[in-house]
Amino acid sequence: MCPQTPKIAVLTSGGDAPGMNACIRAVVRCALDCGVQVVGIEHGYEGLLEGRFRELLVSSVGGVLDRGGTFLGTSRSEHFKTPEGVAQAAALLKAQGITGVVVIGGDGSYRGSEALTEAGIPTVGIPGTIDNDVAGTDTSIGFDTALNTICEAIGKVRDTASSHERTFVIEVMGRTSGLLATYAGLAAGADCVLIPEVPWKLDDVCATVLAGVRRGKKHTIVIMTEGAGHAFGLAQDLGSTCGQDVRAVVLGHVQRGGSPSAFDRILAARMGERSVHALLDRESGVAVGLRGSQMVTYPLSEAYETAHELRHEIYKLANVLAR
Ligand code: F6P
Repeated sequence: MCPQTPKIAVLTSGGDAPGMNACIRAVVRCALDCGVQVVGIEHGYEGLLEGRFRELLVSSVGGVLDRGGTFLGTSRSEHFKTPEGVAQAAALLKAQGITGVVVIGGDGSYRGSEALTEAGIPTVGIPGTIDNDVAGTDTSIGFDTALNTICEAIGKVRDTASSHERTFVIEVMGRTSGLLATYAGLAAGADCVLIPEVPWKLDDVCATVLAGVRRGKKHTIVIMTEGAGHAFGLAQDLGSTCGQDVRAVVLGHVQRGGSPSAFDRILAARMGERSVHALLDRESGVAVGLRGSQMVTYPLSEAYETAHELRHEIYKLANVLAR
């Protein structure tokens, strides 16, 4: 039996991630299944301040499961970060009779969720970011799809790298988190992974490239997180230090688009369901996380006050297998 809650809202915030639509769909349909009305807020916290609300019905989320991006739109709002912005947002939500909000986004978005909770609007956060840098959850919605996109791109680059006997430096997203690069390094068989969490030296990268050449490798793939340096600069430095033909590829926003993987769709469905039940159970100021096979909730502050952790064992394995 689902206890009654009149109306909840859902918004997406920060950088979009594949699977956000699947998550909105799950929130809407699970809430409606419990007799709860759902309002979609367009354009993230910015849209919230502009009162961009619209009712979401079962049919509103038809056909979105496999679509990348977020049909609600998203933003990074500076105004919402101010105390006036939060107060204005809370007043608008109260005026709409909204008794709970689900925020799908990264740890920056969680700070906004906490502020809303403190302003009297119960809020639940769901990790939606390709970076997977939200503490407290094994993974976030969009990470798996982005990894698959990176692996596919690296496979294509490797084809041309082998033909020309070249080295490629491939820059991936992740800001200060090396998780995307590390997992991509393992999954795509990169020769070298450069991430912000682990200091690196040009000479060591050069030694790795030359060791591969001596073993008869026809291609070398170096993956670098954007927060660890710049692909074009490193390609130039490597070329002159190693005397090899080196090119750079910046994968950029390609990594954020595309149809979500089956894993991300299922994760989004489970997290969406958990968030609705958390609000119905009167949980507030919590984040939804996946730990092992369990869906859990934990305080939002744990997610944004704790530094995300590099999975050192994965980083080590990626390096061992690269030899
Ligand atoms: O947080 C997701 C992310 O894609 C980061 O990996 C990247 O640094 C950033 O967003 C890019 O943001 P924008 O789309 O605003 O340029």
